[in-house]
Amino acid sequence: MAELEQRRVLRTAIPGPRSIELMTRKLSAVASGVGTTMPVFAAQAGGGVVVDVDGNSLIDLGSGIAVTTIGNADPRVVAAVRDQVELFTHTCFMITPYEGYVAVAEHLNELTPGDHAKRSALFNSGAEAVENAIKIARVATKKQAVVAFDHAYHGRTNLAMALTAKNMPYKHGFGPFAPEVYRAPTSYPYRDDKLVDGERAAARAIEVMDKQVGADNLAAVIIEPIQGEGGFIVPADGFLPAVVDWCRANNVVFIADEVQSGFARTGAWFACEHFGIVPDLIVTAKGIAGGLPLAGVTGRQELMDAAHPGGLGGTYGGNPVACAAALGAIETIKSDGLLQRARDIERTMLTRLHRMQGEDNRIGDVRGKGAMIAVELVHRDSSDPDPALTKAVAATAHAQGVIVLTCGTFGNVLRLLPPLAIGDDLLNEGLDVLESALRAS
Ligand SMILES: Cc1ncc(COP(=O)(O)O)c(C=O)c1O
Repeated sequence: MAELEQRRVLRTAIPGPRSIELMTRKLSAVASGVGTTMPVFAAQAGGGVVVDVDGNSLIDLGSGIAVTTIGNADPRVVAAVRDQVELFTHTCFMITPYEGYVAVAEHLNELTPGDHAKRSALFNSGAEAVENAIKIARVATKKQAVVAFDHAYHGRTNLAMALTAKNMPYKHGFGPFAPEVYRAPTSYPYRDDKLVDGERAAARAIEVMDKQVGADNLAAVIIEPIQGEGGFIVPADGFLPAVVDWCRANNVVFIADEVQSGFARTGAWFACEHFGIVPDLIVTAKGIAGGLPLAGVTGRQELMDAAHPGGLGGTYGGNPVACAAALGAIETIKSDGLLQRARDIERTMLTRLHRMQGEDNRIGDVRGKGAMIAVELVHRDSSDPDPALTKAVAATAHAQGVIVLTCGTFGNVLRLLPPLAIGDDLLNEGLDVLESALRAS
């Protein structure tokens, strides 16, 4: 197939007539709980663009929520998937195993931080992997309680909803939630009192874990090293290492949920490397397989092997096509120097966004690492969140053919997650559109 032209092209209004027609069908066929950010139907995607069914070519600053980190339809992924589909599509790894699954586990064991002996298990989605990480921590420690943090997002299954902080839209009306889940305060430098540095924020969290839960009851602490849906919150230096140290001293399993921040997104294989921590268990999904559904839990051998045979798994977990895609994606990240590319994208985005911040004090904070950058919007001359402005800027960008997502507990964060395959011209054009959208709002 011909390579997609890397240009923003608007042939119709957004959405165009064909998308409007398909949206009408969607509304009468698909449950309304399944929302859409943009009412635009995709026809093809690659590099830094998504082409819609009306022939509009949109700049992609979202990567399908941090999934197509290496770009859509990456040639190595396409070839690996094609080859595998021709051989076989499923046997169930728990019935007759296959090499691709083992190879992905070997890569995960090698790529994740720490040189201790490790094992991995594969699943289908981030939420499923999160649930399995908690199962593993519980069976290994013979304890039950789990601590998650303010602003956390861990998925939409029952235990994952319990771990997630934000009510609307993730939890509202869906309870009761899984028991034995407790919440601790996180480190949110922009919104913390200036006196709360990383170590003090950790002491605040440890106080809750110690006094309100009790280390003897606590199986695991789960945290996103850079929080995703909660607002791309980068904790202050010293926060994560202090929490890890406390966990280690108290036989509490430290789980890093790197579903959004992992797999080259932040300019390192895993975001926890930026903070010098080594998690006991690490949860991966999203960017791991170039767009195919695959997730994993990787961690210390003695923890991973604590579950009895048959206790972990699932019909599709580690599907052979998804594993082939993951092997292609890993190869692309390594061969195409994508960790460095993420760092270059960080420099481009931060330079421009900091300049914009200097000219417009509705930009309260600019933060993030690699190609995971956030702009937190607030009311003029205050730090009060401005979700209406955020929505307006995103809507204007969408109408101009730029896919940009929002997030944050207060709905006031623009999040930028371009594929690492995007070119500099397109990235800068996307930022131009965002800048003029903010000026116009
Ligand atoms: C940090 C984090 N954990 C878990 C999940 C859930 O992943 P999935 O949607 O694949 O179930 C997400 C999804 O956005 C996430 O960002």
